[in-house]
Amino acid sequence: MRIAQLSDFHVRGDGRLSFRVVDTRRCLNEAVAHLKSLSQGPDVLVLTGDLADNGDARAYHVLYEALSPLGLPVYAIPGNHDRRDRMRDILRGWCPADADVAPCLCYTVEDGPVRLVMIDTMRPGSHDGHCHPAVMAWLDKTLARKPDAPTLLFMHHPPFATGLPVMDVPVENADALAAIVRKNPQARLCCGHIHRPILGQWMGVPAATAPAVSMQMELDFSEKGGDEFRMETPGYLLHHWNRGVLNTHVCQIASQASFAGPYPFADSENPAETTH
Ligand SMILES: [Fe+2]
Ligand SMILES: [Fe+2]
Repeated sequence: MRIAQLSDFHVRGDGRLSFRVVDTRRCLNEAVAHLKSLSQGPDVLVLTGDLADNGDARAYHVLYEALSPLGLPVYAIPGNHDRRDRMRDILRGWCPADADVAPCLCYTVEDGPVRLVMIDTMRPGSHDGHCHPAVMAWLDKTLARKPDAPTLLFMHHPPFATGLPVMDVPVENADALAAIVRKNPQARLCCGHIHRPILGQWMGVPAATAPAVSMQMELDFSEKGGDEFRMETPGYLLHHWNRGVLNTHVCQIASQASFAGPYPFADSENPAETTH
């Protein structure tokens, strides 16, 4: 089973450049072309948030029309630049959310050898991650149903420190998640948001962030690190289950990467949700 985790598309609905620099529609098209070119492509796509740049409905239509022709199952969770209501309405079939935790978009995919658990950590209008108490209760109950199943926990915001100080705002209520993860050593954390591949460990389990399909975070460990990006080669994670072994490959996307930058995240917007 091959699970491609694509993250942080930041597609704009108005056709403008994201953060005044990045042609994220071109990035999306390059990702699609790359996936089409693979002789052994993924069986499923998981999108770990920031699908849109400012929650614009048109961005979700662009994304849906770009990825649907691949003919793969697609599962998405929101990031801080998304709107849940629009994801639910426009990305038909990509967010089969469990009604128990509405309006959060959380659900599991259990039809393969690896259980995919999709966790919503966004709060409308906030840049930072939140482990909502209702979501944590749902997660605890969900994982307990199959305590031995190999499990990937997908969430936009990583609960662990990345060393990029501006991005290291602690996730609210992460202690609740930590207690659940400690009870589930069969799980792995697969996050987005950071726009860089980082491989680590948290509460005793492997933990990773995905590179972005769009721009990459500037690698800057100084005090101001985590607040600028660079046009490095985009990528994604490929989680490969093969005869009882689960490996995560860091993959690159053929692109016109110039490595230009660093650039600030100009006009960044975390949309508030007004409906649903
Ligand atoms: Fe992002
Ligand atoms: Fe984000």
